[in-house]
Amino acid sequence: MSWIDVSWNNNKKRFFAKLVEYNPRPYHSKSLRGCRRMKTEDLTQVFTVNFVVNKAERARLKGQKPCCIWFTGLSGAGKSTIANLLEQRLYSEGKHTYILDGDHVRHGLNSDLGFSDSHRVENVRRVAEVAKLMVDAGLIVLVALISPFLSERLGARRLFDQGEFVEVFVDAPFEECERRDPKGLYARARRGEIKNFTGLDSIYEEPETPEIHLCTAETSPEASVAIIMRYLQ
Ligand code: ADX
Repeated sequence: MSWIDVSWNNNKKRFFAKLVEYNPRPYHSKSLRGCRRMKTEDLTQVFTVNFVVNKAERARLKGQKPCCIWFTGLSGAGKSTIANLLEQRLYSEGKHTYILDGDHVRHGLNSDLGFSDSHRVENVRRVAEVAKLMVDAGLIVLVALISPFLSERLGARRLFDQGEFVEVFVDAPFEECERRDPKGLYARARRGEIKNFTGLDSIYEEPETPEIHLCTAETSPEASVAIIMRYLQ
């Protein structure tokens, strides 16, 4: 399997094409859980171009180090709350940010997806790809998704350069999330009105080595933001 890598040589003012071996990412093959998969043959028709204005240039213009801060945890654990507060803090420091939140993205880009395992895989994959584009654009991207599977979070991590992906485990016991139940979803799931609910009849695989581990039953959102800010400095 090969594909063509096209790059721009600024000195010679011309494009160079190189035939390179295409190596499908391993996580693609084993973790799609029945999801739609693009035939690798299709990629022979796809070209990549190294554009002259690149990630480093865009980041320099913004005066920041782009990265993806990936919040994972149960529904109601505090992902969106902490991302929201963190974004305000970064914004007040003149940083350029964007939040990709599961509930929001599922109203638009991912409105065709539900909560089966294969749909969650696709949900995470699409958001990870969008986050990668936004990091490439020079932004600090805050992703707040349950993202329940280890393999998909690993797949997301692999899209980014070293040190660019910061996994934040927003950890709260299931019982605590159910007690909070900010959207009334736990009660509905208990009544059998919602199927495949995370922690009830759909699994959540805890991160093994997240960059940051927040226990939100004991740590306030403000303190959590302080922990993340310290890590980013
Ligand atoms: S993910 O598992 O695919 O990453 P995502 O973060 O996009 O999930 O969406 C989770 C949000 O959808 C929750 O915060 C909750 O508001 C809502 N939701 C609706 N149904 C479910 C369900 N079955 N399981 C979990 N969350 C659900």
